[in-house]
Amino acid sequence: MKYFDLNGKKVSRLGFGCMRLPVLDKDNSKIDKEKASELILAAIDKGLNYIDTAYNYHGKMSEKFVGEFLEEHNLRDKVNLTTKNPVWLAESKEDFYKLLEEQLANLRTDHLDFYLLHSLSKDSFHKAVDLGVLDFAEDIKKRGLVKNIGFSFHDEYEVFEEIIKVYPWDFCQIQLNYLDIDYQAGIKGYELAKRMGIPMVIMEPLKGGRLSNPPEEIASMVDSFEGYSPSQMAIKFPLSLDNVMTVLSGMNEMGQVEENTDMADKVEANKLSQEEKDFYKKARDIYKSKEQIACTACEYCMPCTVDINIPRVFALWNNGFLYDEEEKSKEAYKTYLEKGVDPQSCIECGKCEGICPQSLEIIEGLKEADQYLR
Ligand SMILES: NC(=O)c1ccc[n+]([C@@H]2O[C@H](COP(=O)([O-])OP(=O)(O)OC[C@H]3O[C@@H](n4cnc5c(N)ncnc54)[C@H](OP(=O)(O)O)[C@@H]3O)[C@@H](O)[C@H]2O)c1
Repeated sequence: MKYFDLNGKKVSRLGFGCMRLPVLDKDNSKIDKEKASELILAAIDKGLNYIDTAYNYHGKMSEKFVGEFLEEHNLRDKVNLTTKNPVWLAESKEDFYKLLEEQLANLRTDHLDFYLLHSLSKDSFHKAVDLGVLDFAEDIKKRGLVKNIGFSFHDEYEVFEEIIKVYPWDFCQIQLNYLDIDYQAGIKGYELAKRMGIPMVIMEPLKGGRLSNPPEEIASMVDSFEGYSPSQMAIKFPLSLDNVMTVLSGMNEMGQVEENTDMADKVEANKLSQEEKDFYKKARDIYKSKEQIACTACEYCMPCTVDINIPRVFALWNNGFLYDEEEKSKEAYKTYLEKGVDPQSCIECGKCEGICPQSLEIIEGLKEADQYLR
């Protein structure tokens, strides 16, 4: 495992994302604790020491699981523990403190190594600032409750620039993968953070798993990189950036832990070959020519007001184009409609669009997806 040196603190370049842990009975709030523990222990055994969770993951069960896990295995002092303040829930400065207090209790600890203001966008940031979030950040750091303070981000580059310049952040977190280099903060945001000397954490390096199963043309290009899988080529991209402290991956199979820790062991920053750079560019062009909607299935839009499974519908729509699977997608849509809520029941309340980290036009997308799939 390679490590990033953060003022003398060794942070593993691969972090364990606890947003997509294995679950039981297909119920997102029922974490398969035994399996999840085995996976995290295996990753720690390979040198991983950064664990990322958040208040809202797994129906508010992720922090509780992580706290229990660290206590049970006596690992709290051996890992960098990270969680995020759900700023959208705060209506007063006091609320930020109450949430932190609840999170420390969930995680069974008296301090956090890294703490982020979660999923900032223009509106959520301005509201939080008006409530006094920056004073709160300053205060909890001074009191040692939090060692490093940062923010995770989902909005346009201009907003990223405003937020990163407003406070002396210790780190920040953006979504970045070889496909989405010009999306949200993107590679331009990465370069800005690097110039400002603010280390970055990268989320969704595999686009929520979609880059693990690329279209045939891309899969055959990967074959020329002997010994690497499509997932490994994808995770290599952010690992090769030198101002990236940690790349977070949600891993829910042992094979995934092995592949990803292997890459975090091998990849050196700033060492991409021309052949690898060409691969990323060509693969990007192929994807972009096929994708219908840039949904990463983060499920922030869920539950939908009328219970439409939005990520599922968009996945079927995209799959039809990405994998040349029109008939298969239509069949799967029929099966979905037998039990799931019909997208034609959308009441256009817009709640999903307000919270979507990708700012997708979900209402219009559902209409187009339905037209294609029906
Ligand atoms: N702050 C925020 O706003 C925010 C938003 C999103 C994410 N995050 C954080 O970032 C973390 C990472 O995001 P992510 O989970 O979306 O990361 P990701 O690595 O892009 O996607 C994870 C998924 O990729 C698949 N996968 C991982 N390694 C693989 C491998 N070697 N081979 C094949 N498939 C592999 C698995 O999919 P399958 O389930 O299909 O096997 C896994 O669930 C999250 O866990 C969370 O902690 C934060």
